[in-house]
Amino acid sequence: MAEWAPILTPDRAALATAAARLREGQLVAFPTETVYGLGADATNDRAVAAIFAAKARPRFNPLIIHVADLDRATTLGEFFAPALCLAEKFWPGPLTLVVPRRPEAPISHLATAGLATVALRVPAHPVALDLLRAFDGPIAAPSANPSGRLSPTEAEHVQEGLGDKVALILDGGPCRHGLESTIVGFGEGGPVLLRPGAITREALEAALGRPLAAKSLAQKPESPGQLASHYAPKARLRLNAHEARPGEMLLAFGPGAPKDVPGLNLSPEGDLVEAAANLFAYLHILDETGVASIAVMPIPETGLGEAINDRLRRAAAPRETGGNPTEVPETKPS
Ligand code: TXA
Ligand code: MG
Repeated sequence: MAEWAPILTPDRAALATAAARLREGQLVAFPTETVYGLGADATNDRAVAAIFAAKARPRFNPLIIHVADLDRATTLGEFFAPALCLAEKFWPGPLTLVVPRRPEAPISHLATAGLATVALRVPAHPVALDLLRAFDGPIAAPSANPSGRLSPTEAEHVQEGLGDKVALILDGGPCRHGLESTIVGFGEGGPVLLRPGAITREALEAALGRPLAAKSLAQKPESPGQLASHYAPKARLRLNAHEARPGEMLLAFGPGAPKDVPGLNLSPEGDLVEAAANLFAYLHILDETGVASIAVMPIPETGLGEAINDRLRRAAAPRETGGNPTEVPETKPS
C-alpha cells in the first residue's frame, strides 16, 4: 500500500483504478455529500476488518453500506412501507435507513456487527455514485477519520489522518453538508431517529405524515452486564479458555491452538486483522451447530484485539432471561 495515498481527480481512469483497488480488498477514500468515506468492498470480511484497523476503532460498530440506487438496496435489506417512503423521498441523499438484512445478502457479517439489520444509504454526491457504479457492488464506509478525530470534509483531511492506510483518495472538493447522514431505524413503535444529521426530524415527519417514535420505544433498556443492543450468540461463551471441555466447541486463535478439537481457528497464524474478519462469521457457524458452550482462546489486547475482546466480553456477559437481544446498537458518531 502507498506510503502516502495519492489524491486523484475523479476522472474515468481514476474511478476505474479505485474500483479495481476495492475489488482487491484495499481501502479507497471517496467524497459524499456529508463527509468523506473510508470505503471497502462490503462483501469482503478482510477488507472490512481493514477499515476497523485503519481507524483504530476500539469497537466494532456496524458500518453504513452504500449502494447506487434503491433497487440494489432492496436486494440487501427488506423495505416496508415507511422505509420505502423515506427512500423514495430522500435518496439519493444524506439519509441512512436501518432495515432488516436479507438472509441471502452477501454483506460481511463484520460490517453489520453480526446484527440482523443493515444500515443502507444511497449517497447523492456524483463521485460517490460514479464509484458505486464503477465498482458495481455495495461499499461499506464509515467517515474517513481515525477514531476520535473530526470527520473529514476535504480530501486533504483524509490524507492527513489516514494517508498511509488507503490506496487512494478521490477528490470531490469540500463536502456540501459537513455533517453525517441522518440515521432512521424501524422499531416496534415505528420509524425512529437513531442519529440526527443532515436531514431534519421535521423533514422526515413531513414525509411520513406522522411523528417519529421516541427512541425508547424502539430500544429495550440495557440490562446489567450486557448491552441489550448487541449481537449475542445463543451459546454461552467461556473466555480465556485453553482447551474445549467435553461438549464444547473451541474458537481458537493462533498457532498454539490444540489440534483435533471441534471448532474453528480465527487465525492460525495469529493475525488480528484475519481474526477480526472471521469473528462474526465463525461465531455464527459455531452457534448454528446448537452447541451449548463455545470456549474462546485468549486474544491479545493489541491492535484489533481490543475490539475483538470488547465484542467477546459483551457476548459472554450474563444474559437477561427470556429476552432476545434487540438489534439496535448505540448510534454515535465515530
Ligand atoms: O454521512 C455518513 O453517514 C458517513 C458517510 C461516509 O456516508 N458515514 C458515517 O459512518 O457516518 P459511521 O460509521 O461513522 O457511522 C455509522 C453509524 C454508526 O453510529 C452505527 O452505529 C450506525 O451507523 N449503524 C450502522 N449499522 C447499524 C445498524 N444495523 N443498526 C443501528 N445503527 C447502525
Ligand atoms: Mg464517523
